[in-house]
Amino acid sequence: MNDFKGKTAVITGAASGIGFALAQRAAREGMNLVLADIEAARLAAAVAELGLPPGRVLAQAGDVSVEADIAALADAAFARYGAVHLLCNNAGVALTRLIKEMRSADWEWVLGANLWSVIHGITHFLPRMEAQGEEGHIVNTASVAGLLSTPASAAYNVSKHGVVTLSETLYHELKAESSRIGVSVLCPAWVKTGINAAERNRPARFGETSVAGEVSRAHEERIAKALESGRLTADDMADAVFAAVTEQRFYVIPHRRISEVVRIRCDDVLEARNPSPVW
Ligand SMILES: NC(=O)c1ccc[n+]([C@@H]2O[C@H](COP(=O)([O-])OP(=O)(O)OC[C@H]3O[C@@H](n4cnc5c(N)ncnc54)[C@H](O)[C@@H]3O)[C@@H](O)[C@H]2O)c1
Repeated sequence: MNDFKGKTAVITGAASGIGFALAQRAAREGMNLVLADIEAARLAAAVAELGLPPGRVLAQAGDVSVEADIAALADAAFARYGAVHLLCNNAGVALTRLIKEMRSADWEWVLGANLWSVIHGITHFLPRMEAQGEEGHIVNTASVAGLLSTPASAAYNVSKHGVVTLSETLYHELKAESSRIGVSVLCPAWVKTGINAAERNRPARFGETSVAGEVSRAHEERIAKALESGRLTADDMADAVFAAVTEQRFYVIPHRRISEVVRIRCDDVLEARNPSPVW
C-alpha cells in the first residue's frame, strides 16, 4: 500500500511513544485516524496535540487485552469511516522480573496486553478488511525480544515471540490466498518512550506486581539506561513502519546492529549449541 491519503488507520497504544509517533505520521499522510489506548486522559491530550479536524480522528479508550473492547473498537472504526486500511496492533507493556519471582497475574497482564491484544485485533479487523476488497496492511509491534531471550523478561519475551510467529503465520496465510492485505512485524530494540513506566497501565484486576529482588532490580536499571540512551526515536520507528508498508516488507528491524545478536541466537539453534549470552 503506498497511497495513504483519505484512507483509515487504526492504532492501539496511540497515546504515547511509538503509537503516538505512528498517529502523527499517519496524520501527515492525510489518513483518518482511529486511536485507542487504556489511558483516556493521555489519549485525549494526544488527539488535541495532533490538531486534526474532528472528522479525521476518532479516539476510543479501552483495554486491548479485553476482546469486547477490541470488538467495540472495530465496530466504531467501521461505523465512522466504513473501511480500515492500516491496522497497527501496537499497544504493549513491559515487566522486568526473574521467572521465579513472578505470579500468574504478572504473566496474564503482560500476555494480555502484548499478545492477546494482537490476536483480538486480527480476529476483529482482518475479515472486515478483506471483505472491503481494497489494499490494506496490518502492522504488529513485537520487539527484538521476539527474536531473542533476554533474562528477567520472560513474560515480555514470550509475548513478543508470540507476536512474531503469529505475524509470520499470518504472512504465509495471506500470501497463499493472494490477499490484498499485507502484514509486517515491527521489532525495535531500545526507544525512549513511556514503556519503562508500563505499570501505570496495569489494570486493578491483576493486583499488585510481584516484588522485584536484587537481580531483577539490577536488570531494571540496566534496561532503564538502555532505553534512555536509545539511538533511534519513536519517529524513526514510525518512518520505518511506513516505509515497510509501502515496500510490502515483512520484517521491520530498525536497529540494525542487533542483527548480529539475532544471528548468534539462530546459529545456536542451527548448531544445537547451548544459548549464548544475550547481553
Ligand atoms: N520502547 C522500546 O524500546 C520498545 C522496544 C521494543 C518494542 N516496543 C513495543 O512498542 C510498543 C509501544 O510501546 P512504547 O515503547 O511506545 O511504550 P509507551 O508506554 O510509550 O506506549 C504504550 C502505549 O500502550 C498503552 N497501553 C498499555 N496497555 C494497554 C492496554 N491494555 N490497552 C490499551 N492500551 C494499552 C499505554 O497506555 C501507552 O500509551 C509496545 O508493544 C512495546 O512492547 C517498545
